[in-house]
Amino acid sequence: NYGSQENGICTAAEECQCMDKTSSSKLLNKGGTVVNADRQQQADIYIEDGVVVEVQPNIKVADEVRVLDATGKYVMPGGIDPHTHLEFPFMGQETIDDFFSGQAAALAGGTTMHIDFVIPINGSLAAGFEAYAKKAEKSCMDYGFHMAVTTWNEGVSRDMEILVKEKGINSFKFFMAYKGELMVKDELLLQGFKMCKALGALAQVHAENGEAVAEGQSRMIELGITGPEGHTLSRPSMLEGEATARAIRLAQFVNTPLYVVHVMSIDALDEIVRARQSGQRVIGEPIVASLVLDDSKIWDPDFTIAAKYVMSPPIRASGHNKALQAALSTGLLQLVGTDHCPFNSTQKEAGIIDFRKIPNGVNGIEERMHLIWDVMVNSGQISVMDYVRITSTACAHIFNIYPRKGAILPNSDADIIILNPNATFQISAKSHHSKIDTNVYEGWEGKGKVEVTISRGKVVWEHDRLMIERGSGRYISMPPFGYLFDGMDKIDSAYLSSLKAPVYR
Ligand code: URP
Ligand code: ZN
Ligand code: ZN
Ligand code: ZN
Repeated sequence: NYGSQENGICTAAEECQCMDKTSSSKLLNKGGTVVNADRQQQADIYIEDGVVVEVQPNIKVADEVRVLDATGKYVMPGGIDPHTHLEFPFMGQETIDDFFSGQAAALAGGTTMHIDFVIPINGSLAAGFEAYAKKAEKSCMDYGFHMAVTTWNEGVSRDMEILVKEKGINSFKFFMAYKGELMVKDELLLQGFKMCKALGALAQVHAENGEAVAEGQSRMIELGITGPEGHTLSRPSMLEGEATARAIRLAQFVNTPLYVVHVMSIDALDEIVRARQSGQRVIGEPIVASLVLDDSKIWDPDFTIAAKYVMSPPIRASGHNKALQAALSTGLLQLVGTDHCPFNSTQKEAGIIDFRKIPNGVNGIEERMHLIWDVMVNSGQISVMDYVRITSTACAHIFNIYPRKGAILPNSDADIIILNPNATFQISAKSHHSKIDTNVYEGWEGKGKVEVTISRGKVVWEHDRLMIERGSGRYISMPPFGYLFDGMDKIDSAYLSSLKAPVYR
């Protein structure tokens, strides 16, 4: 039930304008508190042809312009999810959401752009990129790509250069775990980091010691621990801490910025904080699951329940989540992703007698904006401006697409949400829009609901209905040499001069 072209007739009210004027290219958002990461104000927003034209109090418009009343509500940049896996071939399966269903879910939850991870095909980055570009043709919202690097040869470094210079990629992910599938060794990390630095692309790491994880898995099997809890027990947080520290040191050695994806533990957090305190440019991305869940459900005797929480690095014991929240609220961590990687319960059953075969991944693309509001804003841990920063603006800055994305300013894309702080939301697999048949946030009830989502000037979510169109989403090119690279050359020069200083023997 995605509404839109086939059957999307709004049944909210006789006089409702949402269908007849949804496709209008002119829109006035009236009243409400407009919040950017650096300012909040009472203002109207005038939108034309998918772009913000004006942000001012009391804007007057002609009669044919559709008016959305946001009085008493927050009007904010749509969420940008920096970490998703749609139609992702992984562990012998493919994630259940495609670029249409996953994005439909995102829009229903107030996210208007995501960045998905392209996986190479037989080591070829170019082939992987072409395949993902094809998959994404059905998109109904804007998206960008990160590229994973899983092997190293001349073709890979050449493809990295082409992807950055011609295809709009400005980040590469290196998996330090998943031995035998995606994992890379330190030698590749070093080559990859050097190439990222040369191209002005951000190096990203999945930080877990994959060799030790494999050893931990064998240990569990030898002990007869074959259920989902074996997954968690086999990859303790020290292995996340070790890999995070190693990646940070290698990035420091190469002198290139580093982005640590899915920060799940205090161990990884401590390494990131230490590096930042010493002046190193390291970005830490916790995900909704690491912020609001704990590992208790992995012990559930019902395999279907326990298996839906299996992801890597694992969801940690209670306490890690609170520490990550505190770090996010004080700027030690910078932005929130989801790692939306949805596998159905039948797909998870591949590992019913051996946890090593449970496809890793949890949902979250639809829930992120609501849960972060509920847990972080409603608790008083962060301001509404901080909320905008960690769910949207910081991501746009890091991936060099600000202020086109991540802001409500003249000339920004009109990707906007209206959130009612007094309305409630409920999460359930029965009502969510993702294709996954379970939900790791099942039963969550909270306050603060995204009532309207506007994607490039079109109302796509209103009255709990989606009005979306296959193929309407655009690929967002992300240019290299974002702000994280500013001044890095000076650090290189200082290092070189220090080597040329006289050496006394
Ligand atoms: O379990 C996870 N995280 N699945 C997605 C792949 C990854 O490591 O990001
Ligand atoms: Zn309506
Ligand atoms: Zn990962
Ligand atoms: Zn991921």
